[in-house]
Amino acid sequence: MMKSVVIALAAVVAGPASAAIICLKVRATATAKWTNNATKACTWTGTVGSNFGTDVDNDGDYSCNGRCGAGCTGTAIGNVYTQDCFSHDICSYFNNASGGASDSNCGVAFKAAEDDTEFGLVDGCSQANPTVAPVAPTVQPVCS
Ligand SMILES: *[C@@H]1O[C@H](CO)[C@@H](O)[C@H](O)[C@H]1NC(C)=O
Ligand SMILES: *[C@@H]1O[C@H](CO)[C@@H](O)[C@H](O)[C@H]1NC(C)=O
Repeated sequence: MMKSVVIALAAVVAGPASAAIICLKVRATATAKWTNNATKACTWTGTVGSNFGTDVDNDGDYSCNGRCGAGCTGTAIGNVYTQDCFSHDICSYFNNASGGASDSNCGVAFKAAEDDTEFGLVDGCSQANPTVAPVAPTVQPVCS
């Protein structure tokens, strides 16, 4: 009896069963992963909460990388940092992405981050934003 109640509650908190939400800690090292529009699997490893400023196109807000929502201050439910939001931010930066779900490189990563954006606060992924000066990354993603 007790056990089934706990399982039912866990299912509600976790949201859709098919899409796991993995919280990331600000200042930790994480690896962003996405598939680009040439169907190459790309990875880039760096700091959660890092600040790249704008992208090479001078677009976007890449402060607070990994936060669900634009930069450190874009509309969001809490200051949630997750694996899928980190992957989407990093993909977007390096691909000059735009248009969210319709971007040819990062649209899939955008969709994967939607449940994180919605349920990340409930899942305990919200933290204080770091305050870091913008520094463009020196390491490029590896795609193969
Ligand atoms: C992003 O935009 C910059 C500046 O226009 C360009 O040099 C670069 O090749 C673009 N990157 C991609 C992945 O399209
Ligand atoms: C694939 O992405 C690159 C930027 O990384 C872009 O220049 C190119 O137009 C895209 N190709 C398609 C078919 O969307």
